[in-house]
Amino acid sequence: GAVRDGVEGFVVRIVLVRGDITAQAADAVVNAANSSLLGGGGVDGAIHRKGGPEILAACRELRRSHYGKGLATGRAVATTAGRLPARHVIHTVGPVWSADEDRSGLLASCYRESLRVADELGDRTVAFPAVSTGVYGWPLDDGARIAVRAVREAEAAGTAVEEVRFVLFDTTAYASFAAAVAEDA
Ligand code: AR6
Repeated sequence: GAVRDGVEGFVVRIVLVRGDITAQAADAVVNAANSSLLGGGGVDGAIHRKGGPEILAACRELRRSHYGKGLATGRAVATTAGRLPARHVIHTVGPVWSADEDRSGLLASCYRESLRVADELGDRTVAFPAVSTGVYGWPLDDGARIAVRAVREAEAAGTAVEEVRFVLFDTTAYASFAAAVAEDA
Protein backbone atom coordinates (compact mmCIF):
# COMPACT_ATOMS: atom_id res chain seq x y z
CA GLY A 1 0.00 0.00 0.00
CA ALA A 2 1.13 3.50 -0.76
CA VAL A 3 0.84 6.41 1.64
CA ARG A 4 -1.40 9.36 1.05
CA ASP A 5 -2.11 12.11 3.60
CA GLY A 6 -0.14 10.06 6.10
CA VAL A 7 -2.52 7.12 5.81
CA GLU A 8 -1.35 3.80 4.49
CA GLY A 9 -3.74 2.23 2.01
CA PHE A 10 -4.30 1.85 -1.69
CA VAL A 11 -4.09 4.93 -3.79
CA VAL A 12 -6.39 5.30 -6.79
CA ARG A 13 -4.34 6.40 -9.78
CA ILE A 14 -6.12 9.26 -11.52
CA VAL A 15 -5.30 9.56 -15.20
CA LEU A 16 -6.49 12.34 -17.50
CA VAL A 17 -6.97 11.59 -21.17
CA ARG A 18 -8.15 13.79 -24.01
CA GLY A 19 -10.37 11.78 -26.28
CA ASP A 20 -13.48 9.77 -26.89
CA ILE A 21 -14.74 7.57 -24.07
CA THR A 22 -16.00 4.92 -26.49
CA ALA A 23 -12.39 4.20 -27.56
CA GLN A 24 -11.20 3.47 -24.03
CA ALA A 25 -9.98 0.00 -23.18
CA ALA A 26 -10.94 -0.17 -19.51
CA ASP A 27 -12.77 -2.68 -17.38
CA ALA A 28 -15.70 -0.29 -17.19
CA VAL A 29 -16.68 2.84 -19.06
CA VAL A 30 -19.23 5.09 -17.43
CA ASN A 31 -22.15 6.46 -19.42
CA ALA A 32 -23.61 9.91 -18.69
CA ALA A 33 -27.12 8.54 -19.17
CA ASN A 34 -30.60 9.81 -18.38
CA SER A 35 -33.13 8.09 -16.16
CA SER A 36 -34.86 6.37 -19.09
CA LEU A 37 -31.68 4.36 -19.80
CA LEU A 38 -32.88 4.30 -23.38
CA GLY A 39 -30.25 6.54 -24.97
CA GLY A 40 -29.79 10.16 -25.89
CA GLY A 41 -27.10 12.49 -27.22
CA GLY A 42 -23.53 13.22 -26.13
CA VAL A 43 -21.67 10.37 -24.41
CA ASP A 44 -24.87 8.32 -24.21
CA GLY A 45 -25.47 8.51 -27.96
CA ALA A 46 -21.85 7.65 -28.73
CA ILE A 47 -21.81 4.65 -26.38
CA HIS A 48 -24.97 3.14 -27.87
CA ARG A 49 -23.86 3.90 -31.43
CA LYS A 50 -20.42 2.32 -31.06
CA GLY A 51 -21.38 -0.37 -28.55
CA GLY A 52 -24.22 -1.71 -30.65
CA PRO A 53 -27.77 -2.93 -29.86
CA GLU A 54 -26.75 -5.34 -27.09
CA ILE A 55 -26.36 -2.45 -24.66
CA LEU A 56 -29.82 -1.04 -25.36
CA ALA A 57 -31.34 -4.52 -25.06
CA ALA A 58 -29.73 -4.87 -21.62
CA CYS A 59 -31.01 -1.43 -20.63
CA ARG A 60 -34.56 -2.31 -21.69
CA GLU A 61 -34.34 -5.49 -19.63
CA LEU A 62 -33.17 -3.50 -16.59
CA ARG A 63 -36.09 -1.12 -17.02
CA ARG A 64 -38.46 -4.07 -17.17
CA SER A 65 -36.97 -5.99 -14.24
CA HIS A 66 -35.84 -3.33 -11.75
CA TYR A 67 -36.36 0.25 -12.86
CA GLY A 68 -39.90 0.59 -14.10
CA LYS A 69 -39.85 4.31 -13.33
CA GLY A 70 -36.31 4.77 -14.57
CA LEU A 71 -32.97 5.05 -12.81
CA ALA A 72 -32.91 7.82 -10.21
CA THR A 73 -30.48 10.72 -10.43
CA GLY A 74 -27.20 9.92 -8.67
CA ARG A 75 -27.54 6.17 -9.07
CA ALA A 76 -25.59 3.74 -11.28
CA VAL A 77 -26.19 0.37 -12.89
CA ALA A 78 -24.07 -1.85 -15.14
CA THR A 79 -24.69 -3.62 -18.43
CA THR A 80 -22.61 -5.40 -21.02
CA ALA A 81 -20.33 -3.12 -23.04
CA GLY A 82 -21.42 -4.76 -26.32
CA ARG A 83 -18.78 -4.09 -28.97
CA LEU A 84 -16.88 -1.51 -26.91
CA PRO A 85 -13.37 -2.46 -25.74
CA ALA A 86 -14.56 -2.70 -22.13
CA ARG A 87 -16.18 -5.37 -19.96
CA HIS A 88 -19.04 -3.23 -18.69
CA VAL A 89 -20.83 0.02 -19.23
CA ILE A 90 -21.86 1.60 -15.95
CA HIS A 91 -24.80 3.91 -16.60
CA THR A 92 -25.23 6.79 -14.20
CA VAL A 93 -27.70 9.67 -14.21
CA GLY A 94 -26.18 13.06 -13.48
CA PRO A 95 -28.20 15.97 -12.11
CA VAL A 96 -29.20 18.84 -14.37
CA TRP A 97 -27.32 21.97 -13.27
CA SER A 98 -29.38 24.39 -11.21
CA ALA A 99 -28.36 27.90 -10.17
CA ASP A 100 -31.04 27.88 -7.43
CA GLU A 101 -30.46 24.52 -5.82
CA ASP A 102 -27.23 22.82 -4.75
CA ARG A 103 -27.26 19.43 -6.44
CA SER A 104 -23.56 18.70 -5.98
CA GLY A 105 -24.33 15.80 -3.63
CA LEU A 106 -26.13 14.08 -6.49
CA LEU A 107 -23.20 14.61 -8.83
CA ALA A 108 -20.77 13.22 -6.22
CA SER A 109 -23.16 10.29 -5.83
CA CYS A 110 -22.81 9.44 -9.56
CA TYR A 111 -19.07 8.92 -9.11
CA ARG A 112 -19.41 7.14 -5.76
CA GLU A 113 -22.17 4.78 -6.96
CA SER A 114 -20.35 4.05 -10.23
CA LEU A 115 -17.23 3.06 -8.27
CA ARG A 116 -19.36 0.96 -5.93
CA VAL A 117 -20.82 -0.91 -8.91
CA ALA A 118 -17.30 -1.33 -10.35
CA ASP A 119 -16.23 -2.85 -7.03
CA GLU A 120 -19.17 -5.26 -7.10
CA LEU A 121 -18.11 -6.39 -10.58
CA GLY A 122 -14.42 -6.61 -9.77
CA ASP A 123 -13.57 -3.90 -12.30
CA ARG A 124 -10.19 -2.31 -11.56
CA THR A 125 -9.94 0.35 -14.27
CA VAL A 126 -12.86 2.73 -14.77
CA ALA A 127 -13.15 5.44 -17.42
CA PHE A 128 -15.46 8.37 -16.65
CA PRO A 129 -16.68 11.24 -18.79
CA ALA A 130 -17.28 14.62 -17.14
CA VAL A 131 -20.80 13.70 -15.98
CA SER A 132 -23.45 16.44 -16.26
CA THR A 133 -21.10 18.97 -17.92
CA GLY A 134 -22.62 18.70 -21.40
CA VAL A 135 -26.34 18.65 -22.10
CA TYR A 136 -27.02 18.94 -18.34
CA GLY A 137 -25.13 22.24 -18.12
CA TRP A 138 -22.90 21.75 -15.07
CA PRO A 139 -19.95 24.23 -14.95
CA LEU A 140 -16.78 22.31 -15.84
CA ASP A 141 -14.46 23.56 -13.08
CA ASP A 142 -16.99 22.70 -10.40
CA GLY A 143 -17.89 19.38 -12.00
CA ALA A 144 -14.20 18.46 -12.13
CA ARG A 145 -13.62 19.33 -8.45
CA ILE A 146 -16.62 17.24 -7.40
CA ALA A 147 -15.39 14.31 -9.51
CA VAL A 148 -11.86 14.31 -8.09
CA ARG A 149 -13.11 14.71 -4.51
CA ALA A 150 -15.56 11.83 -4.94
CA VAL A 151 -12.78 9.55 -6.18
CA ARG A 152 -10.62 10.45 -3.19
CA GLU A 153 -13.56 9.72 -0.88
CA ALA A 154 -14.02 6.30 -2.48
CA GLU A 155 -10.30 5.73 -2.04
CA ALA A 156 -10.58 6.58 1.67
CA ALA A 157 -13.58 4.24 1.93
CA GLY A 158 -11.46 1.41 0.50
CA THR A 159 -12.45 0.96 -3.14
CA ALA A 160 -10.55 -1.80 -4.95
CA VAL A 161 -10.53 0.26 -8.15
CA GLU A 162 -6.92 0.94 -9.10
CA GLU A 163 -7.29 3.45 -11.89
CA VAL A 164 -9.84 6.12 -12.63
CA ARG A 165 -9.41 7.60 -16.07
CA PHE A 166 -11.22 10.85 -16.78
CA VAL A 167 -11.78 11.04 -20.51
CA LEU A 168 -12.24 14.62 -21.60
CA PHE A 169 -13.55 15.56 -24.98
CA ASP A 170 -11.88 18.92 -25.39
CA THR A 171 -9.05 21.10 -24.06
CA THR A 172 -11.36 23.15 -21.84
CA ALA A 173 -12.61 20.08 -19.99
CA TYR A 174 -9.08 18.71 -19.79
CA ALA A 175 -7.84 21.98 -18.25
CA SER A 176 -10.61 21.91 -15.63
CA PHE A 177 -9.71 18.38 -14.56
CA ALA A 178 -5.97 19.14 -14.58
CA ALA A 179 -6.65 22.08 -12.23
CA ALA A 180 -8.83 19.94 -9.95
CA VAL A 181 -6.13 17.25 -9.76
CA ALA A 182 -3.46 19.87 -9.04
CA GLU A 183 -5.60 21.33 -6.23
CA ASP A 184 -6.05 17.86 -4.80
CA ALA A 185 -2.30 17.05 -4.76
N1 AR6 B 1 -16.28 11.02 -25.02
C1 AR6 B 1 -15.94 11.76 -23.95
N2 AR6 B 1 -16.60 12.87 -23.58
C2 AR6 B 1 -17.66 13.24 -24.32
C3 AR6 B 1 -18.08 12.52 -25.47
C4 AR6 B 1 -17.34 11.36 -25.81
N3 AR6 B 1 -17.66 10.61 -26.88
N4 AR6 B 1 -19.18 13.15 -25.98
C5 AR6 B 1 -19.41 14.22 -25.19
N5 AR6 B 1 -18.49 14.29 -24.21
P1 AR6 B 1 -23.12 14.78 -22.07
P2 AR6 B 1 -24.58 15.13 -19.50
C6 AR6 B 1 -18.38 15.25 -23.08
O1 AR6 B 1 -23.98 15.79 -22.73
O2 AR6 B 1 -24.20 16.56 -19.46
C7 AR6 B 1 -27.59 12.76 -23.09
O3 AR6 B 1 -28.55 13.10 -24.03
C8 AR6 B 1 -19.15 16.54 -23.16
O4 AR6 B 1 -18.38 17.51 -23.84
O5 AR6 B 1 -22.78 13.55 -22.80
O6 AR6 B 1 -24.44 14.29 -18.28
C9 AR6 B 1 -28.12 11.78 -22.05
O7 AR6 B 1 -29.05 10.87 -22.60
C10 AR6 B 1 -19.34 16.87 -21.70
O8 AR6 B 1 -18.17 17.51 -21.15
O9 AR6 B 1 -23.76 14.30 -20.65
C11 AR6 B 1 -28.76 12.69 -21.04
O10 AR6 B 1 -30.07 13.03 -21.43
C12 AR6 B 1 -19.46 15.52 -21.02
O11 AR6 B 1 -18.94 14.57 -21.95
C13 AR6 B 1 -27.88 13.91 -21.05
O12 AR6 B 1 -27.26 13.93 -22.33
C14 AR6 B 1 -20.88 15.10 -20.65
O13 AR6 B 1 -21.78 15.54 -21.65
C15 AR6 B 1 -26.79 13.85 -20.02
O14 AR6 B 1 -26.07 15.07 -20.01
